[in-house]
Formats: sequence, structure tokens, C-alpha cells
Amino acid sequence: MELIFPSVIIILGCVALLLLLQWKNLSGPPCIRGWIPWIGAAFEFGKAPLEFIEKARIKYGPIFTVFAMGTRMTFVTEEEGINVFLKSKEVDFELAVQNPVYRTASIPKNIFLTLHEKLYVVMKGKMGTFNLCQLTGQLTEELHGQLENLGTYGTRDLNILVRHLLYPVSVNTLFKKDLFPTNKRKIMEFHQHFQAYDEGFEHGSQIPECFLRNWSKSKRWLLAFFEKNIPDIKSYIPEKDNPMTLMQALLDIIETETSEQSPNYGLLLLWASLSNAVPIAFWTIGFVLSQPSIHKAIMESISSVFGTAGKDKIKVSEDDLKKLPLIKWCILETIRLRAPGAITRKVLKPVKILNFTVPSGDLLMLSPFWLHRNPKYFPEPELFKPERWKEANLEKYAFLDGFVAFGSGKYQCPGRWLAMLEIEMCIILLFYYYDCRLLDPLPKQRSLHLLGVQQPEGQCQIEYTRRT
Ligand code: HEM
Repeated sequence: MELIFPSVIIILGCVALLLLLQWKNLSGPPCIRGWIPWIGAAFEFGKAPLEFIEKARIKYGPIFTVFAMGTRMTFVTEEEGINVFLKSKEVDFELAVQNPVYRTASIPKNIFLTLHEKLYVVMKGKMGTFNLCQLTGQLTEELHGQLENLGTYGTRDLNILVRHLLYPVSVNTLFKKDLFPTNKRKIMEFHQHFQAYDEGFEHGSQIPECFLRNWSKSKRWLLAFFEKNIPDIKSYIPEKDNPMTLMQALLDIIETETSEQSPNYGLLLLWASLSNAVPIAFWTIGFVLSQPSIHKAIMESISSVFGTAGKDKIKVSEDDLKKLPLIKWCILETIRLRAPGAITRKVLKPVKILNFTVPSGDLLMLSPFWLHRNPKYFPEPELFKPERWKEANLEKYAFLDGFVAFGSGKYQCPGRWLAMLEIEMCIILLFYYYDCRLLDPLPKQRSLHLLGVQQPEGQCQIEYTRRT
């Protein structure tokens, strides 16, 4: 009897606890947790995250939680949840990304939190619309240099061609002129390691580095590249009236706190500046070349601004860019269709969305990729229709409602106008000097990218002939 009594109390206690947990769970959104403890739904989710999200929305409704690798990710797909994501003070960007930043760039969380806001302010200023015109001349010069390397005729995979243009242009503009290697072997090495790092970034942000040997090797190669070059970046004196580079301005702030982490911040800036801009340049050129009427209209607009294509060495001014809105619309329409799979915020205090309470600690997730397919904001969402961007007030730097490819709120992408400018310049100069055509149909998109824009699956050859 003495033994039975405590056992009954323990059993009743357990039942009460279970009921309590179940009740708490009932007030939370439906949760997809798989059957393996801690790993949860990671395998099914990781195989094709974009399809997984859409299937879950159809099955569970506008808000649902995915439990994977010990993390709860709560996806919001409709108005009320989206508003909480974009406007609530109870959700936070810095706390959501501090773990991925630690895993991918080895920046300790306390240093990241101390420096983040100061670094963001500098990036926003240096890459903002007011200062960007200072970069137009340098971008043109760098692009001319890279286009010379294409020769008079060739065929190449479009992705490789875009990388050969934009890797050196971005690195030399954001870090230091002539930083990008010019020796063939070193160029190949840079490409190989950056691509491996970029491709493994999603896994690297979730899984300890020791399980990702090749990714870790490329990460260390890139860190060593910056370690070697940070002293030169710091002492570099920009030519003529050019301002200090973005990385120089960031180093001034980073080194008030630590100089050990400078290469790590270099790596992070490198990834942020290339990982989305390069595939978007690929897709934009691909979409334009596969639609003859749009290609023709763009060629006519380029000739009307710069004269007969290919004749002279051209300079591109801010005024010229204003006369070429169709190119901007094509880039934005491409970004809409190939937008990042998800952006994220950490829930600081429980938030109510519809009839559910999302608990603190959850990662709140919003999918620009799927939001951009909502016909309420974008009629005929699957079609490439650049003309829909006529409605956007781009002169005032406003996008269309429902467009969140660059995130939103306090920490919206600070490089968005630079990305637009780089891609615009790349298209103008490539099409001005070269007659281009695709030899293959555009490839499908890979369904793997959650953290960044969508990458192509497979190759697409482009043929280019120098205009005379
Ligand atoms: C088409 C190209 C690009 C796309 C689609 C894109 C998209 C994004 C998105 C979705 C975010 C997260 C924002 C949020 O959660 O609210 C972000 C952050 C960021 N982007 Fe971009 N981006 C692009 C190009 C660039 C470029 C060229 C740079 C140049 C340096 C850049 C630098 C950054 C940085 C530094 C952050 C982190 C901001 C912070 O720490 O607060 N991005 N970007």
C-alpha cells in the first residue's frame, strides 16, 4: 500500500503533464514533426523544401510548424501572419541569423550582436541610392575589362560566363581594385572554392562543419584568401575621386572590437554580394534571350541611348539608366520568379496569428518564392511579364506590393540597389558589344534553395559574337 500510493501520484502527474503539453500544443499551429526524435521532418523537408512548404500549406492551412534538427520553423503564408512577420516588434532578425552566421562564417554570437547594427548602417549608406552613382564609373571600367577577355566569338555555359563577369567586378568594387586574381590557375581556384562554399551554404548553416569536409575545406580556403589580403585592403588608397571601398569602411568598425574576425566578415560580405546577384543575372539574361520580342525591345532601347550597338566604347550614366526602364523591369520580374525560398525572424514573445499562438523561440518563416506566386498580388503569377513593373514607383525606389525578395523592415537587404545596378550594367554592356543567342532551352530551377534565390538545374549554352 505504501508503495502503490506514490506510484499512483507519479502516474497521475505524468498524465496531467501530458494533457498540459497537449493543450499547449493545441493552441499552437499544426506541427509536422516526423517520427525520428530531434531530427524530426528534416529528411523530407531537406530533399525539396519549396515543394514541402507548398504541400504543407495545402494540407494544414495558412500557418504550420515544421520541426527539423531540433528547430521549430513556423511558416506564415497569408495576410495576418505576413503582417506579424513584417511589422511585429516581438520578432527579431539578429537572433534568427546569429546561429547560421556562426556556422557559416565562424563569427561568435556575441561579436555578431555587438557589431551588427553599426555595420548595417554603414552598408545601407555606402550601397544606398545616394552613394551608388559613385560606383557606376568603376563598375563600367571593371566590366569592360572582363568583356575584353571574351574575345570576338565563343560559346559557353551562360552560368560560367556570368560568373566570369560578376565575380571580379564585385570583388574589385567592394573590397579593393585588382584584388581578384588575374592568373588563370588562381581564378579557377577561386571559382571552385566559392562555388563549393555557396552550394553547401544551406547545409553549412545547419550542420556542424566536421560533417561537411569539402565545404569546410573551401570555407578555410576563402578565409585564408582574406587573411592574406586584409592588410592590402586596409592600406589601399582609392584612385582619383573614388571613395573608400565598402570593406574598408566595415574594417574601421570591426577593428574597434576585434581584428581576428576581419577575414570572417570578408567571407560573409563576399557570399552576400555574389550568391544572389550571380544567379539573378543568369536568369535575367536567359529570360530575355528566350523571348525575342523583349530582346528586340531591349536592343532598340540600348541603341537609342548609346547609338549603334558595338560601335564605340561607352560610358553609362545615371541619366542613361533612367532611359532604360525595360531592363530594370526584366531584372525585377526575374527576381520575383526566382526569389529566395524563405526569410526568417526569431519569435521573442508568444505572438497570436489567426487562432494560434506561436511560442517564443520559434523561427517565424516567410517564403518570398511562394508569396510572389499569389495571384492577388501578381496576376498570372507563373508568367514572365516585365510590364507589370510599370505600376511600381521605381523613381521613388518603391517595389510592387507583395514583393519581398529583398526582405523587409529594419534589416532589408542593404545591397539591393547595388545588385540591380550591377545586373543592369552587365546586360547593357554585354548586349551592346555582343550579339548573343541561347543554344539550349532555359534549364529548370533546382528546388533546393531556401536561404537564397533559385539556382538553375543544368547547363545552358550561349553563343556570342562581337559586333563590329
Ligand atoms: C538579387 C540579388 C539579391 C537578393 C535577392 C538579396 C536578398 C536578400 C535578403 C532576402 C536578405 C535578408 C533580408 C531580411 O531578412 O529582411 C538580404 C540580406 C543581405 N544582403 Fe542581399 N540580396 C541580393 C544582393 C545583395 C548584394 C549585391 C549585396 C552586396 C553586398 C547584398 C548584401 C546583403 C547583406 C550584407 C545582407 C545582410 C543584412 C544584415 O545583416 O542586416 N545583397 N539580401
